[in-house]
Amino acid sequence: MLTLGIESTCDETGASVVLDGKTILSNVVASSAEIHAQYGGVFPELAAQGQIEAIRPVVEQALAQANVTGQDLDLIAVAKGPGLIGSLLVGLQFAKGLSIAWDKPLIGVNHVEAHLYAAMTQADVPLPALGLVLSGGHTLMLLIRNLGDYTLVGTTRDDAIGEAFDKVGTLLGLKYPGGPEVEKLARQGDPSKIRFSAGNVKGHPLDFSFSGLKTAVLYALRDKPVHGPDVAAAFQETAFRDVVEKAQAAMKQFGCKALVLGGGVCNNLRLKELLPNAFYPPKELTLDNAAMIAGLGTAQFLRTGTPDSLDLSAMSRIPFV
Ligand code: KG4
Ligand code: ZN
Repeated sequence: MLTLGIESTCDETGASVVLDGKTILSNVVASSAEIHAQYGGVFPELAAQGQIEAIRPVVEQALAQANVTGQDLDLIAVAKGPGLIGSLLVGLQFAKGLSIAWDKPLIGVNHVEAHLYAAMTQADVPLPALGLVLSGGHTLMLLIRNLGDYTLVGTTRDDAIGEAFDKVGTLLGLKYPGGPEVEKLARQGDPSKIRFSAGNVKGHPLDFSFSGLKTAVLYALRDKPVHGPDVAAAFQETAFRDVVEKAQAAMKQFGCKALVLGGGVCNNLRLKELLPNAFYPPKELTLDNAAMIAGLGTAQFLRTGTPDSLDLSAMSRIPFV
């Protein structure tokens, strides 16, 4: 079964051809991140414009690299959300157009679910498992009973963890996106030199809050003679220890047999040291990409047997219940 995946939830435009939901024949990603660097965060209108410019060449490249034509495909899978509405609409409309032109079934998938699916394609993950999505747009924990059967058990009340890394990167004068840069700087620092504390949400012990930690970094840099690498190390250690503690508490509470990670932040090697037994996606599937969309779309289509109609809408938020 040949599936074309399309990803356009934020500032990355992705297209990928995947065979039988697992074998990646191509995985093309274009990003408008450089344009957003000057703003220190994603500028939604410019991200949508970037999608419009990139979508056609990216899809053409993905088909060419896989050495297939539109007629060879069995399914078109597209990320229907959550994400920036302007960006989402570009990928969704393009996918609908291809579905009509080539007369192929269309299926919409949840981008957050796809981040976790990226790790689950690589190994037999024992269930129930705890899914931990750590990205620029999302920080959440899902109880995974089965594919398609999830319960949200924790989420951030303010910033996503990747967003906090990016903002701390800006405060430290690092280039955007800050996550990988903060990790590099942290390696030269001593996390015990500064004490930060992570945010807790009253009455919701499995929820996250990173905005206080980010403000603490701002004040530390403004008020004290601190060393940048120590600030980066202390911030990173505090944020990750909070994530690890809450993930372990959730696993215990819900009897989870495994921990599955997804999203850009799980590229961080310090996090891998703290959670050595978790399931991680391969590196090329951690950041936003369309192979994870094609993979999940294939599994979803084979499970339900029904495609989506052309009424499929883009959703900036998709609640997990
Ligand atoms: O999964 P992704 O492409 O975005 C969303 O779906 O939102 O992840 C991007 C995020 C950015 O915030 C980036 O700074 C962060 O992942 N990131 C990292 C690292 N690599 C990427 N954060 C910490 N350490 C890293 N090594
Ligand atoms: Zn993402």
